[in-house]
Amino acid sequence: MELDARAKINLTLDILRRREDGYHDMQMVMQSVTLADRLTVTPARGAEGQAASDLRFLPTGNKNLAQVAAAAFREAVGLGGEVDVDIQKRVPVCAGLAGGSADAAAVLRAMNRLSGAGLSPDRLAEIGARAGSDVPFCVLGGTALAEGRGERLTPLPPLPPCRIVICKPPFSVSTPQLFGRVNVRKIVRRPDTAGVVAALEAGDLAGVARRMYNVFEDVMEPRRYAEISSIKAELIDCGALGASMSGSGPSVFGLFDSEAAAREALARLRDSYRDVFLCGPGPAEFPAEV
Ligand code: C5P
Repeated sequence: MELDARAKINLTLDILRRREDGYHDMQMVMQSVTLADRLTVTPARGAEGQAASDLRFLPTGNKNLAQVAAAAFREAVGLGGEVDVDIQKRVPVCAGLAGGSADAAAVLRAMNRLSGAGLSPDRLAEIGARAGSDVPFCVLGGTALAEGRGERLTPLPPLPPCRIVICKPPFSVSTPQLFGRVNVRKIVRRPDTAGVVAALEAGDLAGVARRMYNVFEDVMEPRRYAEISSIKAELIDCGALGASMSGSGPSVFGLFDSEAAAREALARLRDSYRDVFLCGPGPAEFPAEV
């Protein structure tokens, strides 16, 4: 079975509190995008399922998040069997775009169909939480408010049609380290989450774009932060309605209501960066449920 594993961006990312279990309670407006890995999921040739990809450094066995998700599905449902997963990697890794979580979620959707288990989207998302905090959102896709660790999801009206330019600068950020630098009581600037939700309900793209913010931007190292800021400035200069960092970074994205302006941003950023993409909002994976 072949399927797309769509990446996500954070229209907002807020951290509410540090929990006893080491995780943080979050409040995030998540949006899937059409930038996606292409997966082929087949019954395993050997005794144990493998993950193969066109990136040599990704793990191939049970350390690959796609195989972690497959194991979680078998354990929870008792169906599915071992699967081989072939990944054509298009989404940059360690980028704040949930590329690995998207692969894990796609494997869960594939196993749900291949095994005939027919689990509900919510049950599938619940199983996904065992593989990582962003997996439940990637199972459902579309537009959603994510709370708790990221697993408590409320579907939201879709982002109005727009173009999205994503640029990943060539450094990676450790998510646990970045969380470690956050002092929740000292966060001075937060996104207007309620305002973004209201703008989505009103179908107001500009209203969404101008309220976006990610609290991780405040705790980036100054040199990294300067680079994030300059990409945001370039996107705005090209006509983006708003720009923000996604997840724990370092990817930065801009929302555009003009194809020409988005193409201009793509061309300009490609002068300086290798990983620059033009895409659009992704659909919910189970539209009937929204
Ligand atoms: O769930 P996941 O494996 O993606 O999380 C990676 C790390 O990010 C966790 O070990 C934790 O340090 C941090 N994290 C957190 N709060 C969250 C999600 C992740 O502190 N809500």
